[in-house]
Amino acid sequence: MSEPSEHVRRNRVSWETGSDAYQQRNRRQLNRWDRLGWGIWDIPEEDLGALGDVSGLDALEFGCGACQLGIRVAMRGARVVGLDFSAHQLKHARGNMDETGVRFPLVQANGEQAPFREGSFDLVFCDHGVMGFADPFRTVPEVARVLRPGGRFVFNVPTPIIWLCWSDDPDEPAGNVLHRSYFDMRSLDWQESDGPWTEFNLPYGEWIRLFRRHGLVVEDLIELRPEEEADTTYEDIAPLEWARRWPGENIWVIRGVS
Ligand SMILES: C[S@@+](CC[C@H](N)C(=O)[O-])C[C@H]1O[C@@H](n2cnc3c(N)ncnc32)[C@H](O)[C@@H]1O
Repeated sequence: MSEPSEHVRRNRVSWETGSDAYQQRNRRQLNRWDRLGWGIWDIPEEDLGALGDVSGLDALEFGCGACQLGIRVAMRGARVVGLDFSAHQLKHARGNMDETGVRFPLVQANGEQAPFREGSFDLVFCDHGVMGFADPFRTVPEVARVLRPGGRFVFNVPTPIIWLCWSDDPDEPAGNVLHRSYFDMRSLDWQESDGPWTEFNLPYGEWIRLFRRHGLVVEDLIELRPEEEADTTYEDIAPLEWARRWPGENIWVIRGVS
């Protein structure tokens, strides 16, 4: 296995440093075991149908963090494996497993070099997991490799639209001004008090062409719109009025060709 890329090293340090504060800040939203919600506005799976029926599937949570999503997917009958490169995040995952009594294997690894055999999973899924923090030109081929023919790849990431609307200040939520080039979108380097990190995204057409090059086809693109009274612990991403007008997150629903 080759050395991890520079952005992977940087992001791993950032997650190791920030994990405890992140879990504490978002626990009220993330650890609601009675519901399976998506994204920063916690929109119920029942309203979106992004994952559908998962019972009996071999499923990989790709960038599981503290496994709040994976635990709920396991509660619905999937055989889940959680992958994450952060030891601190996986420590919180074990805590959540103790809290809920739901247990599955956890693998500490870089998603750009997933340590699984070809065709290991029926479903690869994440909610702001590896897919927003690693290079899609490395992760999409890896997911295509570990997915079984006809398997599904379901992941939520920030939209290209919200990328254009963030300023260079990571604490400033999305506004109404376009700050960067759409066509040159690939990576964004952020600088915060506890260190730098990098996020990734692509223009819509590039995502679609990248999927197709690796034998994956788009079944749906679910653009998340919060309810009028929605609440979030992620206030730094976008104000509610913004997210009611423009999609800040989208769930790609992708299928491997049978
Ligand atoms: C926002 S969390 C996602 C977990 C959960 N859904 C949540 O929203 O808290 C992103 C996770 O992706 C992990 N991650 C980022 N880049 C990764 C990579 N290249 N390989 C493995 N894990 C990665 C981070 O450690 C972090 O736990």
